[in-house]
Amino acid sequence: MIDLLVRNATLPDGRTGIDIACKDGRIAEAARGIAGEARTAIDAKGYLLSPPFIDSHFHMDATLSLGMPRFNMSGTLLEGIALWGELKPLLTQEAVVERALRYCDLAVAQGLLAIRTHVDVCDDRLLCAEALIEVRRKVAPYIDLQIVAFPQDGFYRSPTARNNLIRALDLGVDVVGGIPHFERSMADGAQSLKELCEIAAARGLLADIHCDETDDPLSRHVETLAFETQRLGLQGRVTGSHLTSMHSMDNYYVSKLIPLIAEAGLHVTPNPLINITLQGRADTYPKRRGMTRVPELRAAGINVSFGHDCVMDPWYPLGQADMLEAAYMGIHAAPMTSREAMRWAFDAVTVNPAKTLQLQGYGLEKGCNADFVLLQAKDPIEAIRLKANRLKVVRRGKVIAETPERVAALHLGGRPGLVNGADYAPG
Ligand code: FE2
Repeated sequence: MIDLLVRNATLPDGRTGIDIACKDGRIAEAARGIAGEARTAIDAKGYLLSPPFIDSHFHMDATLSLGMPRFNMSGTLLEGIALWGELKPLLTQEAVVERALRYCDLAVAQGLLAIRTHVDVCDDRLLCAEALIEVRRKVAPYIDLQIVAFPQDGFYRSPTARNNLIRALDLGVDVVGGIPHFERSMADGAQSLKELCEIAAARGLLADIHCDETDDPLSRHVETLAFETQRLGLQGRVTGSHLTSMHSMDNYYVSKLIPLIAEAGLHVTPNPLINITLQGRADTYPKRRGMTRVPELRAAGINVSFGHDCVMDPWYPLGQADMLEAAYMGIHAAPMTSREAMRWAFDAVTVNPAKTLQLQGYGLEKGCNADFVLLQAKDPIEAIRLKANRLKVVRRGKVIAETPERVAALHLGGRPGLVNGADYAPG
């Protein structure tokens, strides 16, 4: 007996009319015309069935704190960090857990079932780290939560951050984080990367570094990150997040840098919604977009995924846990509007971050975890265009969230209603 049978789905690779049979939490078969009885059946009506969305860069300790204790008036990264510094002493573990769980509910409704979150370890109480470890345990049945020990105020610049980062890893935080561009000097930033990569290597952990999140074209810590990754044999285990300085770098230097990033096997996570709003704030006109060089990194074979970074916190006042919004903004900010590149942007919030997080059992093939989302769209580009409705969200073969099919009723005298604006198919 099949536990769950989805009929007539379109897959992200373009196959149509596919049935997916789930048993014991895994995909038992994915093919046309699967026979057999099922406890639960879903008619996908030809809509797109995708593996779940993944956010490879988030801050769950700060999410949903917008306006606490005040709003970010300048809109800059630095005022956001200062504001978060004002909020930190006021936080309670219960409140951080409660907000994080609310965000996870929002994520599930959006089919976002794996999140890499950074957690600030510069508070000696390690209150946020303990809170997110508790959240990781609570949401484990429905979200894979990976936590990064993030020294927000600087690994060296904050007097106890170095010690706290080690303590957080001892508590069970998964990944080593860093912020070299926020150290007191370029030299300190480079030294922090050396030490952080050595910690990751010694402990057998992944590393994910907030790297060069600045408009300064001379912020070149990613070069050091690539060097240390390669030196310590950490290829495939290190992520450079943001890399916004690359937007402003000299083109000749970038032509040397990108092959070094590729050689080191760095994963790269731009955060388009945040980069487009935080960067370029010191510019008059023209204003830089600030996102790193996505088409060029892709062309070099580097694994690039789009993160959300922030939702309703000191750095970003909008957002709703929708990774299709990150993909949509990524397409605009790059810009990259070819059919091929827009199709790729869907991978940048699904299969690419699965590689970054090293998730096991991710995908729609036989034997993978029976985790997926049914979208009210016919293909990945349409899903991004519409920020498509999540009709069903499935985890380990069970429906854990659903949203009714959306149809606009027009009162124009006899013309039919629009199904989500989805009835236009480009040739
Ligand atoms: Fe971040």
